[in-house]
Amino acid sequence: MNVVVTGASGLLGWDVADAFEERGHKVTRFMGRKDIDLLDTKATCQAIRSACPDLVVHAAGYRDLDDLELHPRDGFKTNVLGTWNVIQGCRETSSKLIYISSDTVFDGARKTGGYNEFDTTCPVNAYGRTKVAAEKTIESLWGRSFIVRTALLFGYKGHRGNNFLFNVLDQLRTGNRISASIDQICCPSYTADLAHALVDLGESDWFGTYHISNSGSASRYEVSCAVAELSGLDAGLIVPAESDSTKVARRAKRTVFDSLVWPATFGYELPNWHDALRRCMESCGELEEGKR
Ligand SMILES: NC(=O)c1ccc[n+]([C@@H]2O[C@H](COP(=O)([O-])OP(=O)(O)OC[C@H]3O[C@@H](n4cnc5c(N)ncnc54)[C@H](OP(=O)(O)O)[C@@H]3O)[C@@H](O)[C@H]2O)c1
Repeated sequence: MNVVVTGASGLLGWDVADAFEERGHKVTRFMGRKDIDLLDTKATCQAIRSACPDLVVHAAGYRDLDDLELHPRDGFKTNVLGTWNVIQGCRETSSKLIYISSDTVFDGARKTGGYNEFDTTCPVNAYGRTKVAAEKTIESLWGRSFIVRTALLFGYKGHRGNNFLFNVLDQLRTGNRISASIDQICCPSYTADLAHALVDLGESDWFGTYHISNSGSASRYEVSCAVAELSGLDAGLIVPAESDSTKVARRAKRTVFDSLVWPATFGYELPNWHDALRRCMESCGELEEGKR
């Protein structure tokens, strides 16, 4: 297949582009705003037309929750108008579309069990509202689409700034205390594992909405402590905190997935997040000697 990946300079997009190439697909990488600004409708459609894609993976987005809460118009432009433009390019080329959405479409308060793909969305912050609006735009305009909700991504490719794993490692190495929320529980996901699942998805025609993440659930505090333990750094520097006391945007508290569609259609689940974190840290040389 000819595959276009938007946001290919980002944490997830980079791994997605690599994973499709590893499976023998021809990939055109849209590396970010300096390459193609997805807010420019004509430029976006022209760039997609030039690549003649069978599939577009739209992994570009604006994901700083607190910044987006303060500047919602900018967030809506990037996450919703940008998606609208990508949809137009897909319609012109009859290309399939994979859109990366998020567990923040849920409020994390109304369910004691996990969220499945058929649960009603109810975001608690501006970022979540942009993801719901993008999903609805796709559903109303382009049927050859997959909407993939995922959560708390960790990986080591793409921009280093705003990278969860490196933020924790950098702070611990400098001996700084960091606060990590204990009250936000989700299903953390390794970008490389998710990327391989997206290849399986993109090769299929089972359009619809999916919840895809690594198995198991954890708080940001638990994941941060696991990073410290696997790297041999001092987990004592990590201070458990309530998210609402430190953040601008409200956080959804428990957005664990109970994925129904993915295991039914593809017959496998992604490995446990802790095993995935170990593999991720080994791949980027951050795993402590003796922990292999
Ligand atoms: N990270 C997470 O924990 C997480 C969890 C759930 C869902 N998601 C979703 O997954 C997707 C990918 O997230 P990520 O963590 O990989 O994000 P990221 O590392 O911040 O990368 C975002 C990408 O989008 C590009 N981009 C932003 N605005 C653009 C524009 N106007 N035109 C063209 N490109 C633009 C960026 O390029 P430049 O900055 O170079 O312009 C970058 O390549 C997003 O939709 C996000 O909402 C992320």
